[in-house]
Amino acid sequence: MADNPTKGLADVVAASTALSDIDGRAGRLFYRGYDIHDLAGRTSFEETAHLLQHGTLPTRRQLADYGAELVRGRELGALVQANIDEIAQTQAPMEALRTLVSLASADDPDKDSNEQDANRRKAARLTAQQPLLVARYHAARTGVTPRDADPALSIAANFLLQITGSEPDPRAVEIFDACLVLHADHTMNASTFAARVCAATLSDMHSAIVAAIGTLKGPLHGGANEQVMRTLEGIPADGVAQAVRDKLGRGEKIMGFGHRVYKTEDPRATHLRKMSQELGEASGDDTYYRMSKEMEEVVFAEKGLYPNVDFYAATVYHYLGIPTDLFTPVFSVSRMSGWTAHVIEQHADNRLIRPDSEYIGERDQKWIPIDER
Ligand code: ACO
Repeated sequence: MADNPTKGLADVVAASTALSDIDGRAGRLFYRGYDIHDLAGRTSFEETAHLLQHGTLPTRRQLADYGAELVRGRELGALVQANIDEIAQTQAPMEALRTLVSLASADDPDKDSNEQDANRRKAARLTAQQPLLVARYHAARTGVTPRDADPALSIAANFLLQITGSEPDPRAVEIFDACLVLHADHTMNASTFAARVCAATLSDMHSAIVAAIGTLKGPLHGGANEQVMRTLEGIPADGVAQAVRDKLGRGEKIMGFGHRVYKTEDPRATHLRKMSQELGEASGDDTYYRMSKEMEEVVFAEKGLYPNVDFYAATVYHYLGIPTDLFTPVFSVSRMSGWTAHVIEQHADNRLIRPDSEYIGERDQKWIPIDER
């Protein structure tokens, strides 16, 4: 049987979107027509979320209103509050987030509406709550009282404050904010597609986001950033080349490399590499950055593969003091802005997503009564 050329829906256009666009040959990424290189480091995550969910980069007035909506919307509902401590003791981070977002729907005042205004309000609440959920989860499992989020601080600053427990360095906040911008949306990636498939049945936004979180969790998608760090931690600093060759020799994939769409460098990796270098050097021990650089060179020489967004994000988060098992949750903090925008877009012009399949099983089977089989 010949391989199905569209296995994994490769090159299949599964939806129309005005949210983001990739030029895989040139290695370029755009959010609503803005080049990611123009946004990262110059536009805050809150502005980016507004761009995705409302369609425009906000004016100062619009940003103030949206920021106030985020602050109001981040209060966690009663069901989440009542269950988060126990969930933190029993579930791994991405499982916990999947459960907590599902619980959050019960307390959302717009849960029964898919109208555009209701969806936009839910999008703001989900975007505001996701960093809080990660921080509260982490505090509960480590037995500390979380610092209160400061309404005067950005999502990036509050997240670092709550996760590390200390006032973050302003440059660390700038870098983390740019990381959130870089991860915000990425066309029809697996988790966004999962969200759109769910939304296209006219299910609600929270259900679509639960589907997305479950999909992001896998190591071939968002889970790769955690695996990158585990790989770096598991090999000696002077044994990178050998470790890569050994893995490839065993037919294993090197996490953080390769991409379905980019045929050249992922433009997000260009920024993340620089951030990793800067933070590594500032930390006084840039071993993991240097190991990453060597790994990049060896993987390219051996397989011609480029790093994707997850590769240098791993060491950036590590240098920012974020625990390794929260790397994928951090991805979800950012991607929530894109997922929710895709649900708004799907509901605004909906058609059920129902692809076909190629049947490869037996045909013309003769039914036999159970006692004669
Ligand atoms: N390490 C080693 N070999 C690789 C890698 C890798 N990271 N990525 C692709 N290849 C090889 C495959 O083994 C395959 O080789 P073959 O043709 O000899 O069998 C070929 O390249 C094509 O790989 P596929 O897995 O078929 O490519 P696909 O487009 O389906 O997958 C994916 C893309 C999942 C990203 C893949 O490159 C991969 O598994 N990378 C590692 C996991 C990872 O980093 N995921 C994060 C992606 S970015 C994101 O989701 C946020």
